[in-house]
Amino acid sequence: MDEIKNEAMETILQEAEGEAEKAESSRALYEVKMKFLGRTGKVTALLKSMRDIAAEQRPAFGKRVNDIREKLETMIADLEVKMKKRELEKKLAGEQIDVTMPGRRREKGALHPITRTRNELIDIFAGMGFEVFEGPEIETEYYNFTALNTPADHPARDMQDTFYITDGLLLRTQTSAGQIRLMEKKRPPIKMLSPGRVFRSDDDATHSPMFHQMEGLVVDKGVTLCDLQGMLDEFAHTMFAATSKTRLRPSYFPFTEPSVEVDVSCTACGGKGCPLCKGTGWIEVLGAGMVNRRVLENCGVDPDEYTGFAFGMGIERIAMLKYGINHIRLFTENDVRFLQQFKD
Ligand code: PHE
Repeated sequence: MDEIKNEAMETILQEAEGEAEKAESSRALYEVKMKFLGRTGKVTALLKSMRDIAAEQRPAFGKRVNDIREKLETMIADLEVKMKKRELEKKLAGEQIDVTMPGRRREKGALHPITRTRNELIDIFAGMGFEVFEGPEIETEYYNFTALNTPADHPARDMQDTFYITDGLLLRTQTSAGQIRLMEKKRPPIKMLSPGRVFRSDDDATHSPMFHQMEGLVVDKGVTLCDLQGMLDEFAHTMFAATSKTRLRPSYFPFTEPSVEVDVSCTACGGKGCPLCKGTGWIEVLGAGMVNRRVLENCGVDPDEYTGFAFGMGIERIAMLKYGINHIRLFTENDVRFLQQFKD
């Protein structure tokens, strides 16, 4: 056999073995395989050069090249298996987790004080048989004012600075709008509790343009103002203190007649007089009254057969009194130092 070719074969074999052994990844090994055994590889080229060899030397030459190819193939295949195993071990080692490591602490959240107060109010009145009804936040003038005995030219519309959306559509200024929606749907006896957001163009330490109200409505035969005060006493005892008292003062709302403003004995001093109650011993907590005949009529309820009372309170106000919060903005700032104080 041609000495020169023979030598070239040895060099190629050594070169291939050397490179294969140095390969540090499956990818590198694959490249070595292609370099020598691929379609344009060096060993493949040797096979192709067979036709330049004298016919009598061809069988010996062919056998030698095939030996080299087989040797290389076996070697690379072995290396591939080892390489894959090593790579898998490395991957698994990288993914190992130390189960004895301390976990990352997750702080538990808590209900917002407004949600808490709202839930507490619902609990109190649900215990007296009230059902929850939620009306829409975007209301028509009809439900927010007109049906509540507050026609367009009524001065009471100025009592609440309203955000209008379009002519006739507004952000509700009071949950009282829900009274009408419910009475249109349901015949008495009615015992409804309606919590929700309301909106007024108002902004200071105790007023915010968005706040929450809790509306109550009771309509049945023979309902009186005494029933209202009885329920409000029950509410004050559960919400504030067993010794809390309530008092009704005459007031005015277009949708109630008579109308009252309800005070509770001061939550800070118990009635002796202090800066919170400005020395009076009383704090105003809600508006209420007997449902105006006109409102009942507007909803198709006969005012000679049925009477009712309604009340509306600001949930922020109740929460501020109960928890001694001095600025309404604290509710919406979402400072965790504030919110954390309401954890159970
Ligand atoms: N809607 C009144 C307000 O927002 C409160 C109220 C409700 C008064 C029901 C009487 C009866 O000021």
